[in-house]
Amino acid sequence: MQIQTGIITISDRAAAGVYDDLGGPAVRRAVEAHGWAVAAEALVPDDKGEIQRAVQEQLARGCALILTTGGTGVGPRDVTPEAVREIAGRELPGFGEAMRLQSLRITPNALLSRSLAAVVGRALVICLPGKPSGAVECLGFVAGAIPHCVELLQQVPTSC
Ligand code: MTE
Repeated sequence: MQIQTGIITISDRAAAGVYDDLGGPAVRRAVEAHGWAVAAEALVPDDKGEIQRAVQEQLARGCALILTTGGTGVGPRDVTPEAVREIAGRELPGFGEAMRLQSLRITPNALLSRSLAAVVGRALVICLPGKPSGAVECLGFVAGAIPHCVELLQQVPTSC
């Protein structure tokens, strides 16, 4: 199945042009390597409203899978989990559990990430860490469950 995917980089500094967005392109390459289609890309600051708007916009454009990178940590501006939870119908805790468990083998800092997955509308939204290698690693740890999850969500209407 060709999964229509949206990618959202969430970073104050990348959005302000202080440095280049490396996370979005890294996730894009990983998505393409899985054979999924990149249908939309966005770069927003660590702002709840802007994150929610970007997710809703990609949802409206027909994305069945939305991958965010950044803002999952413990910094005062890290609000990605809060932003996504507020608009989500339900959370899928297994994704965050698997990402942290597998990432712990790579770095103890994996515990700092509040990575998660949730259902927004009919889309699967997965929030990955901001470090490009970390985002790609985490996507790899859960990729096996994504096609079936997306298929189920596209068939069955959710409450949200
Ligand atoms: N997970 C993996 N697989 N690899 C990593 O390098 N970095 C960690 C963690 N998860 C990392 C990882 C670090 S250093 C942080 S601070 C948290 O993700 C949160 O990152 P974020 O705030 O940029 O989302």
